[in-house]
Amino acid sequence: MITLDYNNMMTEFVTNGIKEEALHALSNIAEKAVLNIEARRKKDLEFLELPYNQNDIINDILKYRDEMKHIETYVVLGIGGSALGTIALQNALNHPYYNELREEARCGLPKLYVIDNVDPEILASLLEIIDVDKSLFNVISKSGETIETMSQFKEIKKLLKNSENIVCTTDKENGSLIEIAKEEGYKCFYIPRNVGGRFSVLTPVSLLPLAFCGVDIKALLEGAALMDEQCKSTNISENPALAFAVLNYLSMKAGKNIIAMMPYANSLKYISDWFAQLWAESLGKKFDRNGNTVHVGSTPIKTLGVTDQHSMLQLFSEGPYDKIIVFIGSKKYRKEFADHSNLIQIEQAATQYALSTAERQNMTITLDEINEQSIGKLIHFFQIAVAYTAEFLNINAFDQPGVEETKKMTYALLHEKEEVLNRVKKKERYVI
Ligand code: PA5
Repeated sequence: MITLDYNNMMTEFVTNGIKEEALHALSNIAEKAVLNIEARRKKDLEFLELPYNQNDIINDILKYRDEMKHIETYVVLGIGGSALGTIALQNALNHPYYNELREEARCGLPKLYVIDNVDPEILASLLEIIDVDKSLFNVISKSGETIETMSQFKEIKKLLKNSENIVCTTDKENGSLIEIAKEEGYKCFYIPRNVGGRFSVLTPVSLLPLAFCGVDIKALLEGAALMDEQCKSTNISENPALAFAVLNYLSMKAGKNIIAMMPYANSLKYISDWFAQLWAESLGKKFDRNGNTVHVGSTPIKTLGVTDQHSMLQLFSEGPYDKIIVFIGSKKYRKEFADHSNLIQIEQAATQYALSTAERQNMTITLDEINEQSIGKLIHFFQIAVAYTAEFLNINAFDQPGVEETKKMTYALLHEKEEVLNRVKKKERYVI
């Protein structure tokens, strides 16, 4: 079970909150949003079908994992949607010190490293601690062109004697990665054409590394399927993703353009990172679907309960009225230490109460427990909520022109550095 409690978003609990009539007034538009998204399910929004259409892929993944049982280290080379879901789910579902466990405690499963930056120190340092010949490098890129990933791949390739130490996850037809993979005969898994990077967590992008680390990927998809069914309703009071989208839309309209994600479970810390990309890249847009300049978006903030009670909470409770806070709690924790599960839950309730008293809108997602099924539900809930929110805003959630601009600039700087630098010449007097 996952519940969404939005009492503290409403005017009965927070005076500057949302009136119930405002929710009702949106019911027709909400219904239309669901129908629009559903109509695209079997077309360009294939992420909705992923909980149902991957039986063969799951079998391939599990078979490949069994063939590669001997590897000691699994290294993901990828960035953005090709990395964040794996980091989030590995942390949510595996032991918090997974890589530090003794091999027997890990049941012989490989250590996992996700290298999603080109800071030279990161990869150079990883190479100091792993045996590349006992490692599997999973190069992940939907476009097959991302400069950070392709440049990591180029260097790692030089170090390996055996092509079996590389597996690629990419588009079946497009991009340089698939071309190289075919030429070199690397094992490949595919990202469906109609699934974008940040919506790809339930494809082999994350399913493959997670399966190697012992995560029950079938249960993950089962959870997503349960959420998917629940989100077919066009009724705001039955469809939690729809309610989340409506509440966010109304908050954005009221000038609350910041959303702070605050899980009260350390294991969910990186769910906030994954959510931040999904929310920011999907909803931060210059143009609406009619070509009007709108500059919409809501800025995600990543926080963690209780840690950030001692860091961000002061701002949340007394700073500007420009944000909403989303708590994620769990009824159960996987382990007990002293009475800390009680303490963390009490602190969550106290923070919710204090924020409401300070007239700060907040809502709470509660999981019965943190496991594959509930996490599958949670991530699918957020993905669908993003799609609905974009419907309300009348924007395209599935492109990222702003990111493409930086990619183009990076290529330009790499190839004609002087000329481009001259174009953006800085004034000396503004540099101290
Ligand atoms: O959501 C997106 O499409 C992007 O954030 C990508 O995930 C990111 O840019 C990495 O792209 P790729 O998987 O093509 O290497």
